[in-house]
Amino acid sequence: MSRASIIDGKAFAENLTRKMAEEVASIRETYGLVPGLAVVLVGDDPASQVYVRNKARQTEAVGMRSFEHRLPSETSQKDLLDLIGQLNKNPVVHGILVQLPLPRHLDSASVIDSIDPAKDVDGFHVTNVGRLNAGLPSLIPCTPKGCLMLLKNHLGNLSGKHAVIIGRSNIVGKPMSALLLREHCTVTVVHSRTHDVASECRRADILVAAVGQSEFVRGDWIKPGATVIDVGINRVATTDGSTRLVGDVNLREAQEIAGAITPVPGGVGPMTIACLLQNTLEAALCQIGVNR
Ligand code: GUN
Repeated sequence: MSRASIIDGKAFAENLTRKMAEEVASIRETYGLVPGLAVVLVGDDPASQVYVRNKARQTEAVGMRSFEHRLPSETSQKDLLDLIGQLNKNPVVHGILVQLPLPRHLDSASVIDSIDPAKDVDGFHVTNVGRLNAGLPSLIPCTPKGCLMLLKNHLGNLSGKHAVIIGRSNIVGKPMSALLLREHCTVTVVHSRTHDVASECRRADILVAAVGQSEFVRGDWIKPGATVIDVGINRVATTDGSTRLVGDVNLREAQEIAGAITPVPGGVGPMTIACLLQNTLEAALCQIGVNR
């Protein structure tokens, strides 16, 4: 078997972002609209701080407005809900993202529920979740949206393919299964209680790994020629005392058997922010009544 081709998510995302910057400029010219994204970060989790900084930088790079709200980790539920209430009402804010996970004393479900579904650029509000599952237009969670773009770009029509998703989170696994079902795939979702994860994976034409465990998927779990999408971003220590990022798939082993695979870093990660910007643009246009 020849080595798997690498699906270059970084290049794909850069291309998307470049096109989006042109679109943002033209929308500003035509409608006088500048899409605005508010990102709310509670606490000082270092990884979340890096994500939030990247989001703000890229939002401004495409010509949109970025509003950052950094709140101390002891922020009360009421203060957070009050802030979201103000952002819901603010006409220059078209998208609202509350960085997860929240500190333990806060109730994520009711925080997400308080976001105006029209501004819910994460696609986590039950209205958007319900609409996606009912096959209606909705804001779609960014990471699965990015995975689907890479899959369609690489494989074309996905109809009839057997997709296996590892992980059942609200952020990736569940929306990914709805999206692949919408593309007429046969979908299996495996998780921590599945009896034989490896043998389920071996049946996959498309394997999406979203477990959050470094190099969880081994080469011999992969069907020869399968397309593998690695959603994991795990920081691991190296022998020289530094750290490096690895995915949920053992890339070296997988490359010997898969048909194509997304690397970590440089695969799904860059697509997530590109899709967030796209959701913000879509939300902004929808809020001024423009349908594209
Ligand atoms: N934390 C990890 N991924 C995400 C995401 O896609 N959205 C938000 N809001 N928080 C996250």
